[in-house]
Amino acid sequence: MAISTRLTCAFGIRHPIVMAPLDAVGGADLAMAVSRGGGLGMLGGGYGDRGWLEAEYAKAGDAPIGCGFITWSMAREPGLLDLALERRPKALMLSFADPEPFARRVLDAGVPLFCQVHSLEHVRRALDVGASAVVAQGVEAGGHGRTQQGTITFVPEVADFLRNAGSDALLIAAGGLADGRGLAAALMLGADGALFGTRYYATREAAAHPDAKAKLLACSGGSTVRTTVYDIVRGKAWPDGYTARLMRNRFVEAWHGRENALVSSQGGVRHAYDDALSDGDFEIANVTVGEAAALIHDLPSAEDLTRRIGEEAEALLSRGADRLD
Ligand SMILES: Cc1cc2nc3c(=O)[nH]c(=O)nc-3n(C[C@H](O)[C@H](O)[C@H](O)COP(=O)(O)O)c2cc1C
Repeated sequence: MAISTRLTCAFGIRHPIVMAPLDAVGGADLAMAVSRGGGLGMLGGGYGDRGWLEAEYAKAGDAPIGCGFITWSMAREPGLLDLALERRPKALMLSFADPEPFARRVLDAGVPLFCQVHSLEHVRRALDVGASAVVAQGVEAGGHGRTQQGTITFVPEVADFLRNAGSDALLIAAGGLADGRGLAAALMLGADGALFGTRYYATREAAAHPDAKAKLLACSGGSTVRTTVYDIVRGKAWPDGYTARLMRNRFVEAWHGRENALVSSQGGVRHAYDDALSDGDFEIANVTVGEAAALIHDLPSAEDLTRRIGEEAEALLSRGADRLD
């Protein structure tokens, strides 16, 4: 039996599944495949590269997908937001900075605003600016964040907060979710749906290097760490407090905990990083994935995967309902 939530009803989707914006890994092919599978695909607007965004939108045509930005970075070229809004995204997601300077434009365009949140303070702010949905990200998540809490406590805390505030904003759980168990758990925690990032990295359509995907598949629990070392080497000016979860490798072992030395050794290390990226050497270059990597063992199409996660959750929840009878 299909799972019907406020998210599926609001967006006319078959499964309460949202793809995370995954920067350049999350191009049009991946986003469209997720939407074909019955979820909500999201273009990874990421740091904001106009050429990339135009090319991906040209591929996507009028496919029913959303778009997400790294807000502090998009702020350096706010015209990118207009570019995205002109394409009538199903949702526009703002993460990693105060959404207020951009929220009005999103709402005036009649586009649902999603805000990724890492604290109750962020939730309050998202509600103040009129967010339609908050994406509550736990510390297990791949990529950037500043959450201190795990998904299993943060999501119900946000659910309680929204209820006590009398808010009808949707709640989407994120971080550490990889399969139907994760989706079912997210719904039980009070979410209207779940957002998957790391899981979609391991799909045929993800625009990641095949060796990076292979490393993800070989990874087990505890293979990831939150760190700033790749932000330092790539010269990405993340606001204070943000770290990124990614896979441990030789580069992380060499520099994590020695960030000051990394700052002062820029030139050579940066070149080595750039070379490793073009050579596909992921002992030096980063594989940005979260703890969910430990639960991922295959490389399906994102369309099949979306259906599979949805159907697994349906089966689990109906089994649970039978047990309660
Ligand atoms: C490779 C990668 C890139 C990401 N890039 C973005 C991004 O550009 N914008 C954003 O809002 N979140 C980004 N995230 C974080 C996701 O929005 C989401 O919070 C996270 O993937 C959820 O946890 P999970 O990876 O355990 O599914 C990224 C995550 C990964 C793994």
